[in-house]
Amino acid sequence: MIPTRPKLYRPRAGSGFGEVKLLVMRILSVVGARPQFVKLAPIAQAMKGEAEHLIVHTGQHYDAMMSDVFFQDLGIPEPDFNLGVGSGKHGQQTGAMLGGLETIFEDVRPDYVLVYGDTNSTLAAALAAVKLHVPLAHLEAGLRSFNRRMPEEHNRVLTDHAADLLLAPTEVAMAHLEHEGLAERSVLVGDVMTDVLFSTRAAVEARKEELPGGVSKGGYYICTIHRPDNTDDPERLGQIVESLARLDRPVILLAHPRLVALAGKHGIHLESGSIRPASPLAYPQLVNAVMNSAGVITDSGGLQKEAFLLRVPCTTIRPETEWVETVRLGWNVLVSEDLATLTAVVQRPMPEPTVATPYGEGRAAEQVVRAILG
Ligand code: UD1
Repeated sequence: MIPTRPKLYRPRAGSGFGEVKLLVMRILSVVGARPQFVKLAPIAQAMKGEAEHLIVHTGQHYDAMMSDVFFQDLGIPEPDFNLGVGSGKHGQQTGAMLGGLETIFEDVRPDYVLVYGDTNSTLAAALAAVKLHVPLAHLEAGLRSFNRRMPEEHNRVLTDHAADLLLAPTEVAMAHLEHEGLAERSVLVGDVMTDVLFSTRAAVEARKEELPGGVSKGGYYICTIHRPDNTDDPERLGQIVESLARLDRPVILLAHPRLVALAGKHGIHLESGSIRPASPLAYPQLVNAVMNSAGVITDSGGLQKEAFLLRVPCTTIRPETEWVETVRLGWNVLVSEDLATLTAVVQRPMPEPTVATPYGEGRAAEQVVRAILG
């Protein structure tokens, strides 16, 4: 667990009678789950010297390898608050965050609340902000899967419609926002995960990270599975595991706690055939493992894009993706209904090379700060 400052933040400078009014904006970032820590890293860096930037960790993810390690490796300042909410049903978890965040927002009185992506932490912070009339900015606005079974789809649509400033990563996301009547509040800033990926890749290349145990460059696949649609139905999870087990190279399965728990519950053995279960990796080790792999197999949003940016073929076990550019450019293939094809799809020939940069050049965080500070 990340240590938290013992008491709530000091009242805002300039708020009291006779004090000198500071013109620095106070921005409050709210994060809680693993992919949000990655997005926070370049924002925290870009905020330095530009604004007073405070961080709330909701505690949605709390395992050291799901949380602390990202703060340490990516140089993110320690959160100013940690709600320690932990796991729970959607309503229970989101409600606990909402209550805690309201108190913090009232005390801190930020000029902007900045929320990231599409998790329950995103939605809770969005609701808390708009109820208190605190301006709300949404990073990664406009992404759509159009799959209403996904909790993330509800979270992102509701957050976009609540927000005052929509920070979109791609042209496709901008088009979705325009279609929903949100164009006036939207700004194309690029993708902040590209910022952090490019800087991490450079650091990893410079210090020559080791590969996961017992594998060599190009001789293995990296796999992650954590979406409820893939983990919760024993028959489907069993079929996925069987297909992975038949692959022609070792499959390093970086097992999310949800996968471990549900495989155990369903009596499915993850250690079978080619599969080598492993713990989740820290971010630099993940980047290193992906860039040296023969391919990625995943249901994660971020990992599809990271594979593309590292020019590693990806197979996504979902019926759709928000990162449609990866599919259009030939580097990502979706497999969902027909799981029998999974093995052949993963073992397909390398895609055509491309120099396309649909996610920008790795300078998005600066655009975000500029858009918020105005
Ligand atoms: C959440 C996000 C998802 C994101 C993912 C990244 C929502 C609705 N989903 O899904 O969009 O892609 O994070 O990983 O917000 N657990 C632990 N330790 C932890 C965290 C979770 O053991 O540190 C276990 C718990 O059993 C928990 C389960 O994993 O119930 C699921 O965690 P939860 O935060 O509810 O959702 P994720 O599946 O991680």
